[in-house]
Amino acid sequence: MDAIVLLKDDHKTVEKLFKEFEKAGDGAHQRKREIVDKIIEELTVHAHIEEEIFYPAAREGAPGTTDHILESVEEHHVVVWILSELKGMDPADERFDAKVTVLMENVRHHVKEEEEDWFPKVREAMGRKVLQEIGERMEKAKAGAPREPLAVSSAGS
Ligand SMILES: [Fe+2]
Ligand SMILES: [Fe+2]
Repeated sequence: MDAIVLLKDDHKTVEKLFKEFEKAGDGAHQRKREIVDKIIEELTVHAHIEEEIFYPAAREGAPGTTDHILESVEEHHVVVWILSELKGMDPADERFDAKVTVLMENVRHHVKEEEEDWFPKVREAMGRKVLQEIGERMEKAKAGAPREPLAVSSAGS
């Protein structure tokens, strides 16, 4: 599996969950809790494999994009902290929906930059064979990835 294809598939999965959240009614607290729990797991695993495998590989293979990678890590930092707050928050809390909205804004911005500005540069610099090898490593790393947002490296930096 090509690394960029794998990451884009993850982005699609998350976007689908965002849409489900937006469609859930105002009072659908239990449903929203379930959707947000899935979002937390998906984004935590995704941020982890990017930070542990894809970002370091891209830093080496596409050094011209280092500034983008550093900015991405800071964006992950914000996202994993929001995820950790959502984990312990009652969906009936008046701040819950607002926090999910800010999460979605952050993630959509981040995904857009990755997919439109950065991935094409990485693909050009690294080539298909290397991207396939990285994709396989990320696929395998998913099983052992943390499900706790603050266990992701960027949470602490
Ligand atoms: Fe990312
Ligand atoms: Fe991503």
